[in-house]
Amino acid sequence: MTTRLLDACLGKPVDATPVWLMRQAGRYLPEYRVLREKLSFIEMCRRPDVAAEITLQPLARFDLDAAIIFADILLPLEGMGIGFHFAAGDGPVIERTVRAAADLTGVHVGDPRTDTPYVLEALRLVARELGGRVPLIGFAGAPFTLASYVVEGDHSRQFAEVKKLMFGEPATFKRLMDLLADTVIAHLLAQIEAGAQVLQLFDSWAGTLGPRDYERFAAPHSQKVLDAVSGRGVPVIHFAGGSVGMLAQVRAAGGDVVGLDWRIDLDRAWAELGEGVAVQGNLDPAVLLGPPDEVERHAADVLRRARRRPGHIFNLGHGVLPATSPDTVARLVEFVHDWNGEG
Ligand code: CP3
Repeated sequence: MTTRLLDACLGKPVDATPVWLMRQAGRYLPEYRVLREKLSFIEMCRRPDVAAEITLQPLARFDLDAAIIFADILLPLEGMGIGFHFAAGDGPVIERTVRAAADLTGVHVGDPRTDTPYVLEALRLVARELGGRVPLIGFAGAPFTLASYVVEGDHSRQFAEVKKLMFGEPATFKRLMDLLADTVIAHLLAQIEAGAQVLQLFDSWAGTLGPRDYERFAAPHSQKVLDAVSGRGVPVIHFAGGSVGMLAQVRAAGGDVVGLDWRIDLDRAWAELGEGVAVQGNLDPAVLLGPPDEVERHAADVLRRARRRPGHIFNLGHGVLPATSPDTVARLVEFVHDWNGEG
């Protein structure tokens, strides 16, 4: 049993730097692709036995310090009355986008027990299987990142529609954000009850906003979620992509740990965040497509900047890319654990 991750979340000293990887279960693993040939991504999520098996796949291969439940941030949308599907090769597509007040008709706060019981069942299965060996991470999307999908309709590059709604119809935008925040709170609380021992809030697209607009339009809703789920003995990781220009605002919104992408040196980010908060990150996932010496050079740089200061969780700055070799991941995990603070 290792409590490294939980200790690091709380800023306590650890025997080795804990490491897990966003999207550690997924297409770069051949055993995932075998299941994926038979089932669609949604079917995999909806079958608790399959989702549990996929969650555990990377742990069978690598000495990871956490499991993260196999699911998706978009799953709660359907129960809110916002249908979506995953188009082959294209990622998620929202069936009826929200771009005006009238589009919110029939959209309501979701209930995880009736909307995504399969996620809760998968959590229970994995928690039982792990038996406390490593902590199990539950997660949800932050309101702004979810709103980006709901308004844009797919994975947008410009975020023009969501910003148009935000600036042009702030009351409608706020109504949508409130519905999303309340839904996310319900899902995260249900995940704790089902066995999640750590939570991560994914605000992958936060950095598309400037710091002032993040502070005004997104952070209050993330803060509401983070406030509602904290103080329950379950540490919370607040991951905000592209947050280099607004670290103070991200920290102020809450979370025991701030998750960083790779666009800032870890020591500089930590200095800006200040005392009393742990830090997760921050290797560029694309580095893992390079040769071993390049991976080690980059990983050593992250670790050197963290200086084995209590409260560092090693991770990538975003999810593992499908073209990554599992051997590279194996070497990375070993390298992080073996790091002795020198070199
Ligand atoms: O981290 C993990 O291992 C847990 C599982 C997990 C998935 N999605 C599985 C998945 C988690 C934590 C997510 C979060 C998620 N989903 C985010 C936030 C983090 C991020 O990546 O920014 C976002 C934005 C989504 C929405 C989403 N889901 C997109 C844009 C896509 C398509 C892009 C892609 O990589 O294919 C998905 C599909 C998805 N979610 C897959 C997996 C393993 C790929 C499904 C497949 O085709 O096999």
